[in-house]
Amino acid sequence: MSKKILVTSALPYANGSIHLGHILEAVQTDIWVRFQKLVGNECYLFCADDTHGTPIMIAAKKAGKTPEELITEVQKEHYADLTSFLVEYDNYYTTNSEENRKYSESIYLTLKKNGHISARNIEQSYCEHDKMFLPDRFIKGTCPKCGAKDQYGDSCEVCGTSYSPKDLKDSHCSLCGTTPVLKESKHLFFKLQDFQDRLKVWMEEGDRLQEGASKKLQEWFHSGLQEWDISRDGPYFGFAIPEEENKYFYVWLDAPIGYMASSLNFFKDEKKFNEFWKEGKGEIVHFIGKDILYFHGLFWPAMLMGSGYQTPSQLNVHGFLTVNGEKMSKSRGTFINASTFIRYLDPEHFRFYMACRLGNGMEDVDISFDDFVSRVNSDLIGNLVNLVSRVSTSILDKLDRKLGTLSSEGKQLLGELLAKENEIKDAYQTRNYSKVMREITSLGDKVNKYVNDYAPWNLIKTDAEKAREVVTVSSNCAKILFTYLAPVTPKISEEIKKLYQLDKLDYSNISEFLENKTLAPYAMLSKRVEDKNIQAMIQDTKDAYEKANKENVKVEVTKSETQTSSKEVNESGTITIDELAKVELRVGLIKEANHVEGADKLLNVKVDLGEKGIKNVFAGIKSSYKPEDLVGKKVVVVANLKPRQMKFGLSEAMLLASGKDSTLSLFVPDKSAEPGDLLK
Ligand code: 2FM
Ligand code: ZN
Repeated sequence: MSKKILVTSALPYANGSIHLGHILEAVQTDIWVRFQKLVGNECYLFCADDTHGTPIMIAAKKAGKTPEELITEVQKEHYADLTSFLVEYDNYYTTNSEENRKYSESIYLTLKKNGHISARNIEQSYCEHDKMFLPDRFIKGTCPKCGAKDQYGDSCEVCGTSYSPKDLKDSHCSLCGTTPVLKESKHLFFKLQDFQDRLKVWMEEGDRLQEGASKKLQEWFHSGLQEWDISRDGPYFGFAIPEEENKYFYVWLDAPIGYMASSLNFFKDEKKFNEFWKEGKGEIVHFIGKDILYFHGLFWPAMLMGSGYQTPSQLNVHGFLTVNGEKMSKSRGTFINASTFIRYLDPEHFRFYMACRLGNGMEDVDISFDDFVSRVNSDLIGNLVNLVSRVSTSILDKLDRKLGTLSSEGKQLLGELLAKENEIKDAYQTRNYSKVMREITSLGDKVNKYVNDYAPWNLIKTDAEKAREVVTVSSNCAKILFTYLAPVTPKISEEIKKLYQLDKLDYSNISEFLENKTLAPYAMLSKRVEDKNIQAMIQDTKDAYEKANKENVKVEVTKSETQTSSKEVNESGTITIDELAKVELRVGLIKEANHVEGADKLLNVKVDLGEKGIKNVFAGIKSSYKPEDLVGKKVVVVANLKPRQMKFGLSEAMLLASGKDSTLSLFVPDKSAEPGDLLK
């Protein structure tokens, strides 16, 4: 029997562009939804832009627009970016909608009526110049712990300490530079703790949560559930709270209700809407990143419980996207926007690669560009696409594009492919996409071996009918493989459908064989990736970042000389003498050096820094150094670099070098220097 499933991806915030991290989630969700539709389930994918809050209000003001104008433009851009990666939404809406207002108000009023809302005064930073309360991110000052200047109001990016903005030294409003005052006002709170017991039951029921997510929620339970501040004082871009003066719902209250609003806007009336949200006649499945688990695993189900709605059936939580084993970085050119990616590369390749990398856990997902090129070129193009392209042009032309009949050997091979159907479906269902991809590529290898053994490009010259038989077998195999692959590569699968002149390519006709059929002309399915396009995309990202920074610096300097943000100036390429003094350069003695399995550029080095101990370093020096030549060498090391978790392990320091690839050369200190010596 077919299932009813309502699926959502997290709503992108309307204050920035869609980047590859958003695309990872959108693609993960879309693959799942396409799979559900392909097996005949009634499945819907809903999303929207998340549009409220202070950052949007300020961004609109800076741009000389109304918030409504800004979010309309951004929504269009977001939708274009997301769908360019072949993500197919049933509805992509906005949280600034009448449906959302109505449901936010009514859910809140029900919670209030049921006694789950409390009110009390709290003291917060207020800017008397801008006449507004300042969110933590709009306050800057000196870190109370380490003294680093220009840190945000909630945490220090230098020493990592979290604090209250009240503790920040020399705090100032990041908009106008005025010192904020503390001011009291009434806030409304959602009493999350009222739902402690029900949430516990909810978490443990069915297979709602992955193990990692459930552990995380348990931890939060143990540290005690706190009531949640859901109001903000005006001016604020959002929905006014009913029965209150100048108070607005905090953006995170109405954001998830945006899932409901997007579905209602699509269903038009409340009948179908209620089947999902009131009557429990369908599943509600959210795809989210691990950073917003708290909201979706605690606040959201509790809000739904307290107001009489169905709670999510499943939370599918993924990790962050890393690039080449590291956090995405603007200055390294790896914080790549969706629109930049599609200027240089094929979005379907990104889908394919992500599918190869995605399991159903919460670990970070890495896109390493060397691996991206080799996976796409060898597994997608060299193996699967080639299976079709190698027989569908000149060979089929010579056979008048007509298939023949299947041999018994061919039928056996097709049987092997079909035998994997359930395993592949299970892996899709449980979001084990990397397993799906392993299965499909290994089946592709088998079929390619069959084709290679018969070499129809030779047979066509000597035994055209045997060649026709081989082409018939391989085309039937390709039909099955591209049905399996359809959720991941919908465009290629669509082309396959046209080539084989089929009405549909899904599980309902997967075991129908094509015999004695005339095929359509072959249209290019997909091209190899070229490394130069990747380099150009990274360069483009770096350039855009540097340009934006220069503009930022100009704006900052003209605004006020005393208020220049060191963060922005830093990123433009200059640092102050004080900042330079923070860098601890030391002499290091290489004790051990090893290859890193799976890494093209890295070596793993253990470097002795005298009193500072031995540090583990992953250094991109493989192009010029053999591990055995490194042991015993003295090098220059940045000894106080914050340890970075890389794909292959923790890197605790950095070796200094100049040049690139084969000209790369490590900095060498004076011969007499001892390990650990400080270099001035
Ligand atoms: O983290 C974010 O980007 C939020 N805009 C996600 C909201 S998801 C949902 F709750 F609306
Ligand atoms: Zn101000």
